[in-house]
Amino acid sequence: MTDPRLITALDLPSVVEAEAMAEAIGEACVFHKIGLQLLPVGGMDLAHRLKAAGKSVFLDFKLHDIPATVEKATRSIADAGVGDLLTVHAEPPVMRAAVEGRARSDLKILGVTVLTAYDDAMLAEMGYGCGARELVLRRVDQAVEAGLNGVVSSPLEAEAIRARAPEDFLIVTPGVRPAGAALGDQKRVATPADALKAGASHLVVGRPITGAADPKAAAQAITAEMSRA
Ligand code: C5P
Repeated sequence: MTDPRLITALDLPSVVEAEAMAEAIGEACVFHKIGLQLLPVGGMDLAHRLKAAGKSVFLDFKLHDIPATVEKATRSIADAGVGDLLTVHAEPPVMRAAVEGRARSDLKILGVTVLTAYDDAMLAEMGYGCGARELVLRRVDQAVEAGLNGVVSSPLEAEAIRARAPEDFLIVTPGVRPAGAALGDQKRVATPADALKAGASHLVVGRPITGAADPKAAAQAITAEMSRA
């Protein structure tokens, strides 16, 4: 039993460990996230190998630079042909540049609305005149306007996003914890079934799978929970 909506975050220090983890999970999860930790140590090569093995790949690189650079970086990533999803920060000029850069490739672009590590006080410190929730919804509207395929958000915001975005808009949610699991540093969490019910299109799960004694069994248990949504 495999659910293509489940994405395992391969947050491991080396591609050797990440690849071993992907192998241990096997067909229990066919979508893997490669983030900044793996990027400088061979993450793109790993993406090539995962694609060659028939997996889907989420490149969580959170691009954020001047538009010309974001456009060129997105073009390089699209030309590599190894990513299904790529994240950029959800600022309108950045998002428009990424859409230009991916051109007619199959690469789907997701906006990171507001990092889950930020709260209202931190946004005020940075000079924003609104709180996290308001900023998330504003950036969702701007992501739709820019032609993005979706956003990354907390499961607790998924319902409000789903209510204002097109039906095929992707809502990819980290912060997913099976009932009774350790929260770690995740603060705003939902169970797999509740995240899907709130409107999430994909769930990103890291440590509950990669830190389990049996990662394959953990992925299968989450898949079973997803089927109850
Ligand atoms: O917590 P877990 O290991 O399941 O994290 C999966 C993904 O969630 C991470 O790769 C990271 O992108 C994201 N994350 C987050 N907020 C945190 C911790 C992790 O959004 N506090």
